[in-house]
Amino acid sequence: MSIRDSGYSGRVVRVIQETETAVTFEVALEHGFRLNFRSGQHALASFPLGNTWFRRVLSFSSSPDENYLAFTVKQVWHGRVSTYITERLRVGERVVIDSPQGEFTLPLDAPESQRYVFLAAGSGIVPIFSMIKELLGRNELADITLVYTNRSPENVLFKRALEVLDFRHESFKIHWHYTRKEGDVSDHSQRLSGDAVLELVGDAGPAHYYVSTQAALAKSFLDALAASGVSETHVHFELFSAASHVTDGVELQPRRITFEYSSLLGKEVTVQQKQVETLLETANAAGVAVPYNCTLGNCHACKLKVVHGSTVMDEPNTLSIQDAQAGYVLACVTYPCEDVVVQVPRKN
Ligand code: FES
Repeated sequence: MSIRDSGYSGRVVRVIQETETAVTFEVALEHGFRLNFRSGQHALASFPLGNTWFRRVLSFSSSPDENYLAFTVKQVWHGRVSTYITERLRVGERVVIDSPQGEFTLPLDAPESQRYVFLAAGSGIVPIFSMIKELLGRNELADITLVYTNRSPENVLFKRALEVLDFRHESFKIHWHYTRKEGDVSDHSQRLSGDAVLELVGDAGPAHYYVSTQAALAKSFLDALAASGVSETHVHFELFSAASHVTDGVELQPRRITFEYSSLLGKEVTVQQKQVETLLETANAAGVAVPYNCTLGNCHACKLKVVHGSTVMDEPNTLSIQDAQAGYVLACVTYPCEDVVVQVPRKN
């Protein structure tokens, strides 16, 4: 089945520049079709470019109750699809949306006065923005607190819209947080910890907690919640940003990759890259058998362990925090930042 046959075809009807590096685009599906999705979910979006389809998993930034379908995308370093969307996507262009997916969604059976705490960092706000709009639109009694951390005010997504929601709804509170002091490009002393977030939101009774941040803050907050006795059933986190190897602003260059087979009898294959490419592309070109399927950082078929050297992964991807911390990467979205050694599972 081709991409054309497998998804919902539509056209871009509006492109909004949110920040210097992020855009929201709205899509009208063919024949006025209305996509059924839950706030917090994502979908695979495909864009035709010449003879190639660019594909990327994107979170919905509209809520299911709004009369338009929108996605918000932040450009990621060396991200081919995010760069295309943020720099070149225009009104009228074709896009195909696959079926919505994801479990990072609101509970179906919560009481109207339920308390919700959302923790978002950077573009991690996108699925949370959709959820907050749905909650505020349907239920005035829900008690909602958002902690939103960014490097600086210029990086904040949906700032005006969030301020308007905050102004209109007494039950909605926002804690803005910035990791860089004004004029200082290197200071990270203002980084949040999980304990600091708990202190900010206070203990106002049982809540559902939603976390959509980079791996370190997510883990710190999850640890703090566990230590304070919050049930796992009330903690929800988005793994799309879970990539501990991400290195901001690293200059990518062709590197030497050593593929080491994991069995005792295994051999090594060392390849000098000729251009900047993913570990999977290098392995394929060198005839090293690395399994793969989606090539989008979604299915985990290409998961490998990096045993030496640092790498960077395109986001979003679905690697878990635990796997990232154990040194695993998804080869289809991973670039080497220096000469690296990776372990390839040997097939029996
Ligand atoms: S091939 Fe699916 S995650 Fe890499």
